[in-house]
Amino acid sequence: MIYIIEHLDGNRLYKWCFLEYKHISEIVGKDNLLFTNIKSKKAKEQLLIYGKVESKSITELQLKKVCILDQLADKILSPNDKNNFDCFIFGGILGDYPPRKRTKEKLSDKLLCEKRSLGNKQMSTDTAVYTAKKILDGTTFEKLEFQDELEIPVKDGLSIELPYRYIKEYGKIIISNELVAFMKKKKGI
Ligand SMILES: C[S@@+](CC[C@H](N)C(=O)[O-])C[C@H]1O[C@@H](n2cnc3c(N)ncnc32)[C@H](O)[C@@H]1O
Repeated sequence: MIYIIEHLDGNRLYKWCFLEYKHISEIVGKDNLLFTNIKSKKAKEQLLIYGKVESKSITELQLKKVCILDQLADKILSPNDKNNFDCFIFGGILGDYPPRKRTKEKLSDKLLCEKRSLGNKQMSTDTAVYTAKKILDGTTFEKLEFQDELEIPVKDGLSIELPYRYIKEYGKIIISNELVAFMKKKKGI
């Protein structure tokens, strides 16, 4: 099973995005991960140790049995979908609030294939991949635990509000430690 991240931010690979991609590699393993639509040489070099890298867009690759993960899809991903598809495609795109339906615009509307949702709340790409993997490994969506919105304290009483859905394991939020450190540093400077 291959997890595909279609990078949708053009030539740019923001540090935030890079840290999410690194986290995704830890979640699914580099051998099961493909980054597509990576146009810049620098981004390619940065990502090669975390997965396979392809400069073509997913729309130019002739892949069969693919499924796009899109919040706006009608059907929820189910454990049985591991038998229906070989590749699961996610938008490599930072969250925005309110969501601007960019996954639909830039991905779902461009590729004729099945789509699945992970619920009607927006998640970061790494959270979406984590959630999809849990489901494909056998846990139904209804059994998963989530928290909507997350506040990360930084310093001097300041905090960062993340208006997204996060998955929890044994009551603990799953988020990249490196990303949290990056947010704290960024806010602190
Ligand atoms: C931060 S989200 C992008 C959201 C963006 N604001 C939009 O308007 O589509 C990054 C990716 O994670 C996946 N994703 C996030 N939340 C999802 C959900 N509830 N169901 C399915 N996929 C989701 C999608 O593949 C999406 O492209």
